[in-house]
Amino acid sequence: MLGAGVRQIGGRVELLDLPEPPGPGPGEVVLDVAAAGVGNWDDIVRSGGWDVGLTPPMALGVEVAGTVVAVGSGVTGFRPGDEVLGHPLPLRHQGCWAERVVVDADLIVAKPPNVPWETAAAFPVPALTAEQALSESLRVAENETLLVHGAGGATGGLAVQLAVLRGARVIATAGPASADRVARSGAVEVVDYRDRSWPDQVRKWSGGAGVDTALNAVPGGSADAVRAVRESGRLATITGDPRSAGWGVSFADVYVRPDTDQLTKLSALLGEGRLTLSVGLALPLAEAAAALDRAVRGANGGPVVLRANQRPSKS
Ligand SMILES: NC(=O)c1ccc[n+]([C@@H]2O[C@H](COP(=O)([O-])OP(=O)(O)OC[C@H]3O[C@@H](n4cnc5c(N)ncnc54)[C@H](OP(=O)(O)O)[C@@H]3O)[C@@H](O)[C@H]2O)c1
Repeated sequence: MLGAGVRQIGGRVELLDLPEPPGPGPGEVVLDVAAAGVGNWDDIVRSGGWDVGLTPPMALGVEVAGTVVAVGSGVTGFRPGDEVLGHPLPLRHQGCWAERVVVDADLIVAKPPNVPWETAAAFPVPALTAEQALSESLRVAENETLLVHGAGGATGGLAVQLAVLRGARVIATAGPASADRVARSGAVEVVDYRDRSWPDQVRKWSGGAGVDTALNAVPGGSADAVRAVRESGRLATITGDPRSAGWGVSFADVYVRPDTDQLTKLSALLGEGRLTLSVGLALPLAEAAAALDRAVRGANGGPVVLRANQRPSKS
């Protein structure tokens, strides 16, 4: 089968001729991949900074949408023909940038029929990251004021929507290309991050004292974001930034992990239209290097996906 990935850690991304997956083991299913998400985290896998369970030569890709084609013993929740999505780590046979992938059946959830393959493929990592940041690291409560720094991106955009659903009052940073979309997502104020005084503007909009809590989704952005947080407030970053000091503000690092209960609820919200995500670029597997390059440079206009052997969705 075809896959896209690397022959060695740190190698360039290329199209690979990979062995077909073995039949599914107990608790596993084989998927025909329809689409797979591409994020700058895949470059961290490529360069050896994130061990996702494989050794090269390997297809990259840690999020997927596809159709079940084979089911291992003990799997009761899925059967051939089911359409699913997931963040199936650790990877079992190959990464998700391939025509087929073997996954743990406990790590996939049903794809809502009305959700396009590309959207479903781009959703799991940013949605789980946003949910885990808000509900576990920051514990954002109803009526709290939350800053989302980097709300124009996929993860920041979903964080705005999820925080609004939790009843928080969201102030966001975004550039001109994303500001309207972020405002439509429910942010009460959208501040242009290109103005270096933006943390002061956020403090002003929060009533002067600063926001209760902040989520940073901009590489290197925590030091700015913390300036908008009130004394003894909370800051979480998804970017591995150095710890930002300041006036008793707590600091949390968020690293996404698979969580099937969370993904089931998030996927349902996507199907109901209460969460939205617009894919910016969809390319074939053969253009994986260009797709990754685009994601690393910042997926302006929406996340990037790779298409594999697509058949029409059941929708
Ligand atoms: N820790 C984890 O588990 C985890 C999980 C997912 C993602 N991440 C990381 O989180 C970051 C965001 O990921 P993503 O996939 O959501 O990104 P993305 O979709 O590629 O976000 C790109 C957007 O970020 C905005 N942006 C760029 N520079 C900015 C700045 N200086 N200030 C404010 N906004 C800025 C731009 O929005 P505008 O249109 O508004 O200009 C741009 O469109 C990445 O570094 C990614 O690696 C980490």
